Amino acid sequence: MTRRKTPEYGFETRMVHAGAQPEPVTGARQTPIFQNTSYVFHDADDAASLFNLQSFGFIYSRLTNPTTAVLEERLASLEGGRGTTCSASGHSAQLLAFFAIMEPGDRFIASNKLYGGSVTQFGKTFQKFGWHCDFVDFDEPDAITNALTPKTKAIFCEALANPGGVVTDIEAAAAIAREAGIPLIVDNTMATPYLCRPIEWGADIVLHSTTKFLSGNGTSMGGAVVDSGLFDWGQNDRFPGLAAPEPAYHGLNFWESFGDMALTMHGHAIGLRDLGPTMAPMNAFQTILGIESLAMRMQRHCENAMKVATFLENHARVAWVRYAGLPSSPYHARAQKYLSGGFGSVFTFGVKGGYEAGLKVVESCCLFSHLANIGDARSLILHPASTTHRQLTTEQRDTAGAGDDVIRLSIGVETPEDLIRDLNEALG
Ligand SMILES: Cc1ncc(COP(=O)(O)O)c(C=O)c1O
Repeated sequence: MTRRKTPEYGFETRMVHAGAQPEPVTGARQTPIFQNTSYVFHDADDAASLFNLQSFGFIYSRLTNPTTAVLEERLASLEGGRGTTCSASGHSAQLLAFFAIMEPGDRFIASNKLYGGSVTQFGKTFQKFGWHCDFVDFDEPDAITNALTPKTKAIFCEALANPGGVVTDIEAAAAIAREAGIPLIVDNTMATPYLCRPIEWGADIVLHSTTKFLSGNGTSMGGAVVDSGLFDWGQNDRFPGLAAPEPAYHGLNFWESFGDMALTMHGHAIGLRDLGPTMAPMNAFQTILGIESLAMRMQRHCENAMKVATFLENHARVAWVRYAGLPSSPYHARAQKYLSGGFGSVFTFGVKGGYEAGLKVVESCCLFSHLANIGDARSLILHPASTTHRQLTTEQRDTAGAGDDVIRLSIGVETPEDLIRDLNEALG
């Protein structure tokens, strides 16, 4: 289902130009780093109008910053959205999105196949706000419908889930959300808008950890909430944060005042203002630079990942490979529908010999860096059982897809033969 036509310019053109103009005073062509906390008002009326949200401009960089604003417009363009709120990290983008939607006592439904940090944030920390997450298997659409309650305010999934090569049926989840009158929120970190644009498949809000492929060099933490602008926050009385008078703004109703920019305005004027997880201007700048080469990098990430996954699938010491690009993946057909231009860079494989064998492979690699990140130009390797999931029991690790034999790879843009040689030697 196509709900929004992509804008006039092609993806690569918007990747380089969207949201940016030469700087008007100096003519600087690249977006400058506005390393400013605050901006001079023209006069008292200008200040009052900015503070009342009657005019748009810059007051204080906790809320808005000119460098970050370019990144926000660029991401909205690439995702086919209406507006973006950038934040200090992917996790804070999740906080901002839910903060606009949820009240204490509310619930949301999330896929049980998510990045582990999101499972902890949703399942444990969000409970302190009185928000409850129901985790269900999104491969069973009935499970989503059965989990709906009058208190359910959103449905959340990852387009391409970290790390197991799981591809979500976004259209099916969007249909359930639409029927229930609640938004579908999709974390598009792993796919990036180059491979998948969830709004075109019915998503209402798209989230990113810009820390990963968007910045692309492992230098800059960041997050983004991209709003489609298509969700009707006033269709029922379930979203008072957006469609009821806001006491923190003299009774302003974001939905009535800003329409399709309601969530984006709320993200800045309430979310960033009062919770404070602002993206640093330097990180916005680094991410703008990263996005300029997103298409070329993603093509190379995907080509390399396919070569490495195929090599591993045929290796005698490898028990299994989970990569949506391989015909052996149960998600291969779905990946062909939702992903265009490749199947992503991150996947897992199982090494024969369990825990000790997994540890040995990770320690024996020379080119792959042993660390807990994805989406770097460099290839990365992780043995979850001995690192991110080491506090869990064997049974808990197996359920989380982090069994003793599991190794996660984030394939970079290096020469693929070098990556294959490194893994071959490490496998012994
Ligand atoms: C899919 C996904 N979403 C969200 C996050 C959280 O992002 P950040 O680390 O920028 O807070 C991560 C981090 O690994 C991730 O992989």
